[in-house]
Amino acid sequence: MDDSVRRGLEGVAVAETSLSDIDGGAGELAIRGYPVEELAGDASFAEVLYLLRHGDLPTAEERDALRAALRDRRALAPEVREVLRAAAAADLPAMDAARMGVAAASLVRDGAEDPETDALLVAAQLPTVVATYWRYRRGEEPVAPDPALDHAANYLYMLTGEAPAPAAVDGLEAYLVAVSDHGLNASTFAARTVVSTESDVVSAVTAAVGALKGPLHGGAPGPVLDMIREVRATGDAREWVADRLDAGERLMGFGHRVYRVRDPRAAVLEAAAERVYEAGGTGTDAGLFEAARELERVGVEALRERKPDRRLDTNVEFYTAVLLHGVGVPRDLFSATFAVGRVAGWTAHCLEQLGDNRLIRPSSRYAGERGRTWTPIEER
Ligand SMILES: CC(C)(COP(=O)(O)OP(=O)(O)OC[C@H]1O[C@@H](n2cnc3c(N)ncnc32)[C@H](O)[C@@H]1OP(=O)(O)O)[C@@H](O)C(=O)NCCC(=O)NCCS
Repeated sequence: MDDSVRRGLEGVAVAETSLSDIDGGAGELAIRGYPVEELAGDASFAEVLYLLRHGDLPTAEERDALRAALRDRRALAPEVREVLRAAAAADLPAMDAARMGVAAASLVRDGAEDPETDALLVAAQLPTVVATYWRYRRGEEPVAPDPALDHAANYLYMLTGEAPAPAAVDGLEAYLVAVSDHGLNASTFAARTVVSTESDVVSAVTAAVGALKGPLHGGAPGPVLDMIREVRATGDAREWVADRLDAGERLMGFGHRVYRVRDPRAAVLEAAAERVYEAGGTGTDAGLFEAARELERVGVEALRERKPDRRLDTNVEFYTAVLLHGVGVPRDLFSATFAVGRVAGWTAHCLEQLGDNRLIRPSSRYAGERGRTWTPIEER
């Protein structure tokens, strides 16, 4: 490989952003200058969406206006429900349904294509898309959005048809805030690339959902939950971890490309999960939270012994699994629920890109054959 080729663009800065700042060495993440620990647990999703879009936290009036703007855009076009019904009937993954559903958001645009309103539209539609698909997967009719409920509460309500417990709503809100933005990850880069062609925000978010579907990006929390359950079933975390590592397997939810210490989102999600499990309710089966903590302790210890030169700590996905399970989000919807939160960052990045646009068009180094001559088909 030619040394000048930066495979995967690792370490290459291709945009300036004022949205989120990651310090992988120190294990810090700040959103518009606010450490993630300041926001997750206190801020609502609508406040952080506003913060990302406008640069400052909203006043109560500004927050309420944004909430109303989201609420007014939640309902899906009837045709989209049919597509989601078909996706559920075919047992397609939730991320496929999310991609198809969000792509069709253009059907309910009220007025001309506009980046600012399209950004609200996709953020408002995504939870309805995911919940509608899930209801069909369960053989049930979709639950219409409840205008009396805020974003996170309404998402849980549309999944179950029941009023969600306040602790579950707070837990989900903390999750959506914690994952709202994270630098130029693959899906955000995909979204910025699409709008850089002066395409529209619905197209950009559709591409972002496609990028997030891949297991190298948003797919780990499901396997993390499976792992915690398996460890609980065996009753011996130390032996389980040793067996996996002896077999050359990786522990899901440990390690990170950017963080060299514990992912700061793991701490805020752990704290949020603790509150949810203490309050009890849907999904908070006794012992799961403690089993996760024990697995983290044993896993980190074993990885320190085996990879002394490399700090491998828990990443965002580890406590995502514990928290989302605790608030009652089904395992199959973990990645799609990540999209419900990350859409805040995707759309803010689109608006930022459009504010000072330069077509994103990297180059490639040609490594194929040269100077060949044409052979007619009968001579090949
Ligand atoms: C996230 C991840 C892809 C980052 O990878 P990375 O920074 O490229 O790390 P590397 O692949 O260079 O790994 C460095 C070493 O640590 C080991 N390692 C990394 N993560 C590990 C894990 N979760 N369990 C066991 N060993 C791990 C690798 O095997 C490698 O060992 P080697 O040098 O002996 O080959 C990786 O840590 C991983 O696969 N984690 C599990 C999946 C996961 O949780 N994904 C969600 C990420 S948010």
